Amino acid sequence: MNKYADIHIDNVKLSEDEKAVVIIDQSKLPGETVYLTLKSNTELWDAIYTLKVRGAPAIGIFAAYAMYVLAAASLKDTGNNFEEFYDNFKRNKNYINSSRPTAVNLSKMLDRMENVVVAEKGQPLFVIVEKLKEEAKKIQEDDVKMCRAISEYGLSLVKDGDGILTHCNAGQLATSKYGTGLGPFFLGIERGIRLKAWVDETRPLLQGARLTAYELNKVGVECTLICDNMASIVMKEGKIDACFVGCDRVAANGDTANKIGTSGVAVLAKYYGIPFYVFCPSETIDFNCRSGSDIEIEKRPDAEIKRAFFAEPIAPDDVKCYNPAFDVTDSELITAIVTERGICYPPYGKSLKELFYKE
Ligand code: MRU
Repeated sequence: MNKYADIHIDNVKLSEDEKAVVIIDQSKLPGETVYLTLKSNTELWDAIYTLKVRGAPAIGIFAAYAMYVLAAASLKDTGNNFEEFYDNFKRNKNYINSSRPTAVNLSKMLDRMENVVVAEKGQPLFVIVEKLKEEAKKIQEDDVKMCRAISEYGLSLVKDGDGILTHCNAGQLATSKYGTGLGPFFLGIERGIRLKAWVDETRPLLQGARLTAYELNKVGVECTLICDNMASIVMKEGKIDACFVGCDRVAANGDTANKIGTSGVAVLAKYYGIPFYVFCPSETIDFNCRSGSDIEIEKRPDAEIKRAFFAEPIAPDDVKCYNPAFDVTDSELITAIVTERGICYPPYGKSLKELFYKE
């Protein structure tokens, strides 16, 4: 029996007729539970860009299903012409890949789908399309297993009653089940280990307030919401025993890109002597990036700072803004990187390579 505390949300799946990808619209949570059925390449691109589907692993899973749906739809135009089919596949792949640059899961899962097309060349196109569907499902199943293992390792780092500060949302909504940084909270419930969550609201798009608080509340985790600028005081007051965060791309040396504000939490944690843990499925490690300076940081529109989630604009319309969606936490601020294969400690150049690198 699976005793995991599950919030029972299918955040990414295929529609019943398998012609579309169905998602829960995360941009509307927690106020409204709206499911979207997406078919066209522009709808699929927009869902990622506007964070209707978000979180590095969930974006990768979504992109894989998107490629299947688009490939299946292209069959009627390409007959049995492989070159035409493959050209169309690559065009859609590049387009979907352009939706968000920082989370490596997107391009990695798109590559995994392209590998299927290349490997199956010579088969009838409908067979290739079936294989694409199988691969997308496998990507999702792999994610569930990775998250489960990461949650186990994460739970081994803490004890009953500990206060854990989280930033952004690295939960079930950001993956396909369990989550990474939030996984130990769900697993803890089933094991009688009650962790207390301190949830950064996560300006400007409020993934902490809207999504993490929603997920944890739903399964009865004790959860306290704070504004991002309150992290220092709760650490100083002794309420925080560890920080758990997810990641969007981890460089070979352990430098970690995650939601904007993460590096500030890490600096504070170092100052107050609190362990800072990054939860990282292997899909999020990018050995092609030697360090954080190789990671592209997405810049997003000013309106997210000035207007999003406020009834009225909160700043003069013409004031200049700077809105990087992610920042890089230097590896020296990270106590450990928790993966599905085990917990890596510094120096990460060595420990990550030992666990994962395949020549
Ligand atoms: O912009 P978002 O909401 O997609 O950013 C998400 C994060 O930064 C998460 O912490 C990260 O993707 C890990 S989710 C398991």
